Amino acid sequence: MNDTPGALAGRRCLITGAASGIGAAIAVAYAREGAVVALADRDEPGLARTLAALPGAEEHTRHVVDLTDPEAVTATVEAVVESHGRIDVLVNCAGILDETPLVEMSLDTWQRMIDVDLTSVFLVCRAVVPRMLAAGGGRVVNVASQLGQKGGAGLTHYCAAKAGVIGFTKALAREVSAKGVLVNAIAPGPISTPLIDGLSARWRREKEAELPLGRFGLAEEVAPTAVLLASDPGGNLYTGQTLGPNSGDVMA
Ligand SMILES: NC(=O)c1ccc[n+]([C@@H]2O[C@H](COP(=O)([O-])OP(=O)(O)OC[C@H]3O[C@@H](n4cnc5c(N)ncnc54)[C@H](O)[C@@H]3O)[C@@H](O)[C@H]2O)c1
Repeated sequence: MNDTPGALAGRRCLITGAASGIGAAIAVAYAREGAVVALADRDEPGLARTLAALPGAEEHTRHVVDLTDPEAVTATVEAVVESHGRIDVLVNCAGILDETPLVEMSLDTWQRMIDVDLTSVFLVCRAVVPRMLAAGGGRVVNVASQLGQKGGAGLTHYCAAKAGVIGFTKALAREVSAKGVLVNAIAPGPISTPLIDGLSARWRREKEAELPLGRFGLAEEVAPTAVLLASDPGGNLYTGQTLGPNSGDVMA
């Protein structure tokens, strides 16, 4: 039992994409706020690194899973519940990104993006939300992207998936909020993580010049928004919202 005082003291939290970048930063921030976290990702060494960075590491768990595999998702959620008793907070943060112009995009490239960045959110929510409803409440935080709001050249698949996450979030919020499950999205702007390493230098230069803050964010600057949405009373009035730690890229 983690009895560290903090905004998330004692909360049982499942975080996907926790091996790297924003998901890893959210895991660290949650654990610092007293949460017990279950880390899920397909990257086993990355999961071990995140676990080692968490305070109170003995009570946290890691789960290697390909989130596009429906049976593996179900088995992982069952394993998390077996280890921690329940899931109070779910953060869907796993994702991929690549730059491909529409005219060159194969159906496989499109489908892979939709599977990882959108369908995985559906699969994990489908496995976790019924348990939250049965328990009388919970919090879901879906990591979308500001590109799902404004679009981006060469990123039709990514933008479609992330706009899908925002729409999914609003619909699920309307479905379950009255039963105590609050569902929100975070749509970060460009954040310096391994995800954007593959994008062209030209994209990075142009992108930075466009931002009102003039710089990319850090994963540690996104994590506090995920803490807010999971916390009581700070997150109590948010549902169906898309919060934008985005260096001013999109002004909603
Ligand atoms: N970095 C940015 O600029 C940025 C901006 C907006 C939104 N986002 C979103 O934030 C989330 C996290 O991105 P990040 O920048 O931390 O990237 P990252 O590459 O550092 O982390 C993504 C993680 O997702 C995991 N993952 C990918 N496919 C998976 C699968 N099929 N099964 C299990 N795990 C899988 C990876 O192993 C990795 O650990 C993503 O959803 C991304 O789209 C990132």
